[in-house]
Amino acid sequence: MIDIENLSKSYGSRTLWSDVTFTVARGEMLALVGPSGSGKSTLLNCLGLLDKPSAGVIRHEDKDITRFSRREIRGFRRDVLGYLFQNYALIENATVAENLKVAVKPRRPLPDQPGKTIAEALNRVGLGGRENETIHYLSGGEQQRVALARLMVKRPALVLADEPTGALDDANASTVVDILREMSESGCAVVIATHSASVREQCDRVFALGESERDPSHKPQRLTVPLSTT
Ligand SMILES: Nc1ncnc2c1ncn2[C@@H]1O[C@H](COP(=O)(O)OP(=O)(O)O)[C@@H](O)[C@H]1O
Ligand SMILES: [Mg+2]
Repeated sequence: MIDIENLSKSYGSRTLWSDVTFTVARGEMLALVGPSGSGKSTLLNCLGLLDKPSAGVIRHEDKDITRFSRREIRGFRRDVLGYLFQNYALIENATVAENLKVAVKPRRPLPDQPGKTIAEALNRVGLGGRENETIHYLSGGEQQRVALARLMVKRPALVLADEPTGALDDANASTVVDILREMSESGCAVVIATHSASVREQCDRVFALGESERDPSHKPQRLTVPLSTT
């Protein structure tokens, strides 16, 4: 589905990551992990053509997408890509249904897997019958589930999720991961940038950015609270 080869990203003299090489196949869910600032979002943005790598190749169906023209970029976004962000990326003052209607269906949908209807997708995320509510009044967990329902309607071949559970309680977080898993099982390739050990454990493979594994000084410092002596 997506092949990344020797990808590097630098800002000036600072190299964020280099020689990143991995493949994500249809039906596979890959966790992208690493400390804050290690470049997880930047790598997702390169896959989503919102940013450009400094070197290397990203291949989709044997084409280097980093060399796409503007027209090809538009087509890739419309026909292949789905994004799930931590901050939901919904239209705040529109209704649930209006937010789902903007999911532009791919011109070349996956052959055996049509997208769900709006009602089916809302039922699956536990928001059946809530079509006419305004996004603004929904809780964070509900908004993320609307964003997921929108992905289910679009049914992209490649899903990029940037800390999709970062702002959610455990119940909402596991709904999100379960649905991403269903999407991968129905043939999507899914890449999830995450801090969460439980999300990572539910993925098929893990790619680690940054030095957290090698350099123990990257572990977060724990504040020690002095014991009261009174
Ligand atoms: N346009 C830019 N110019 C310089 N540095 C940038 C730019 N965009 C991002 N960065 C840096 O890249 C680093 C990685 O950011 P990010 O991809 O958001 O990491 P993560 O998602 O893992 O927390 C940050 O330290 C950020 O300051
Ligand atoms: Mg990030």
